[in-house]
Amino acid sequence: MANKTAYLDAPGTPLRIGDSEIPIPGPDDIVVKNHAIAINPVDNMISTTGLGPTSWPIVLGSDLAGSVHAVGANLTRFKPGDRVIGFAQWLIRRTPADGAFSLYTRLPAGNAAILPDGISYTDGAVLGMAIGTAVSGLNEEKCLGLPFPSLTPAQTGGVLVVYGASSSIGSMATQLATASGIRVIAIASPANFELCRQCGATDTFSYKHPTVVDEVVAAVGSDTFVGIFESISSSASYKISLAILEKLGGGRMACSPPGPTTLPGNVKAEMMIAMGEHSIPVFEHFVTQALESGQLKCQPPPLVVGNGLESLQTALETLQAGVSGRKMVVTL
Ligand SMILES: NC(=O)c1ccc[n+]([C@@H]2O[C@H](COP(=O)([O-])OP(=O)(O)OC[C@H]3O[C@@H](n4cnc5c(N)ncnc54)[C@H](OP(=O)(O)O)[C@@H]3O)[C@@H](O)[C@H]2O)c1
Repeated sequence: MANKTAYLDAPGTPLRIGDSEIPIPGPDDIVVKNHAIAINPVDNMISTTGLGPTSWPIVLGSDLAGSVHAVGANLTRFKPGDRVIGFAQWLIRRTPADGAFSLYTRLPAGNAAILPDGISYTDGAVLGMAIGTAVSGLNEEKCLGLPFPSLTPAQTGGVLVVYGASSSIGSMATQLATASGIRVIAIASPANFELCRQCGATDTFSYKHPTVVDEVVAAVGSDTFVGIFESISSSASYKISLAILEKLGGGRMACSPPGPTTLPGNVKAEMMIAMGEHSIPVFEHFVTQALESGQLKCQPPPLVVGNGLESLQTALETLQAGVSGRKMVVTL
């Protein structure tokens, strides 16, 4: 069967389903037959604003789960038929074959991992881009510079604040920091406190509570404060995050765009960037075993919007309307 793809012909237009070739893998790529695709805010942002791409049509989509269709010549880690999750890299490769909004997608093998048999494609689809982003914010030296997650973590005595801990990237950051032996203080809506705790947070506070800054500072206690993972990056969230940093004597903050406009001298803020090679060690050496043991969970839980590429447009619109503690997924 030939490939089918959901094309975005121009910003603000509905996705168009059309025929395409099944991608050919480069030597370090795999091609995946997608069984589930998750939607990210960047898909929505680009589909409405057109910011980023320089030629059209484009194929959106970063998160996928499916079975390996073809493997590149250099690879031994995967074989056809393997169940995998992955983070497609269309945002840097810029070619239609590398977008997840297709029946078949090409991606670098380093951004993929075996999905254990007991976990559905629908659940696994929520993981890819969140892993890339959380690893950038947590582990890249320019951001928080924390140790990589471990399958056998030892407590470090460090404590991290995750703002927006019920979001996709925030819940992944909570899980991965916990797997680095770092205690996590979560800031989210009370309705999502249980989700934050399932991801490993030891303390949960509401950003709507007027004394949230003092509550978070008290919860840091005598542990070593290692920084803030800022998933929301709005003027309201920066007001709270910077007030926490001020009371704790400064520190590091990993931000999702846009960064804060002004910063005190004792605060170092850097943007996390999901795409790229920084997360390869985590995809290769942590994800599969951690999923098998239950150390890594597919959070936030998927909300299946529909079946078939035709449902991707509805999924984009549902995400645009706002989500809380869920990730939009389309099954194929
Ligand atoms: N830099 C990168 O490479 C990169 C990669 C991925 C994502 N991002 C960006 O990171 C952000 C989060 O992405 P995501 O996929 O994790 O989003 P998401 O899962 O769709 O985020 C939804 C969550 O955000 C929380 N939220 C929404 N408005 C909030 C507010 N005003 N204050 C506090 N929490 C709020 C909600 O929490 P409650 O319901 O608990 O309030 C909700 O659970 C987006 O802006 C996205 O574009 C950047």
